[in-house]
Amino acid sequence: MRDVAASAASTGPRVLPRNDPRQYDDLAAEWWRPDGAFAMLHWLAAARAALVPPATRPDELLVDLGCGAGLLAPHLAGKGYRHVGVDLTRSALLQAAEHGVRVVQGDATAVPLPDGCADVVSAGELLEHVPAWPRVVAEACRLLRPGGLLVLDTLNDTALARLVAVRIAERLPTVPRGIHDPRLFVDARALVAECARHGVDLRVRGIRPQVGGMLAWLLRRARATGATSTVRAPRIVPTRSTAVLYQGRGVRKG
Ligand SMILES: C[S@@+](CC[C@H](N)C(=O)[O-])C[C@H]1O[C@@H](n2cnc3c(N)ncnc32)[C@H](O)[C@@H]1O
Repeated sequence: MRDVAASAASTGPRVLPRNDPRQYDDLAAEWWRPDGAFAMLHWLAAARAALVPPATRPDELLVDLGCGAGLLAPHLAGKGYRHVGVDLTRSALLQAAEHGVRVVQGDATAVPLPDGCADVVSAGELLEHVPAWPRVVAEACRLLRPGGLLVLDTLNDTALARLVAVRIAERLPTVPRGIHDPRLFVDARALVAECARHGVDLRVRGIRPQVGGMLAWLLRRARATGATSTVRAPRIVPTRSTAVLYQGRGVRKG
């Protein structure tokens, strides 16, 4: 894995179009740095995993669509799932495998896994990267067994989300520049309707980083001298508005 990350990093910075998946190769060394460019994905993974109850039967399967480098894995530890990750990006999958994820290289719009195989499907920070996001929803629902659980989080298709998640966040060390194409942001009502069409009654709620923790983290980042972090990662907390970032949780009808 180190060879892949190192060779991706050694190509140096290049300018890619917004949402170009090759950005994940260029940023491969950032995935597991707690204060790196993907720091917020760690906080979101913790919040997403909190929506997943422990498995009730041996060998339950959780399919993690767009798993990236497997940041969900430590937060699922002890919950009893087999964790299978699907992603387009090989450099990320190699890291996910190092963290115990069974990886499948593939497109979340056409997943090479059988119908009804999953007890849980997770789609964390994925839909807003896929132009055909309804096809990801269809695949997620196809993979779920009746009674299975869908958990996801994504960015809403609103002017506020474009302001906060692109114009502001891309100036902070929490979001890499160009990682999002705001034209792909996902309208929460359309997402709920699409899930309903595929038998999942999705409930959504707004989420955000806790303000105090986020400010302390940003301050520490600004003052960072390379010393080990003593500031805890900000928690992701529920918020009344779904206008920027939101989570969804729903069960597939039997
Ligand atoms: C923002 S990252 C989120 C990664 C992970 N879910 C997390 O929260 O740490 C988006 C991931 O989606 C993957 N991705 C984008 N489009 C995809 C597609 N059509 N099929 C599968 N993976 C995709 C990217 O390679 C990247 O790893």
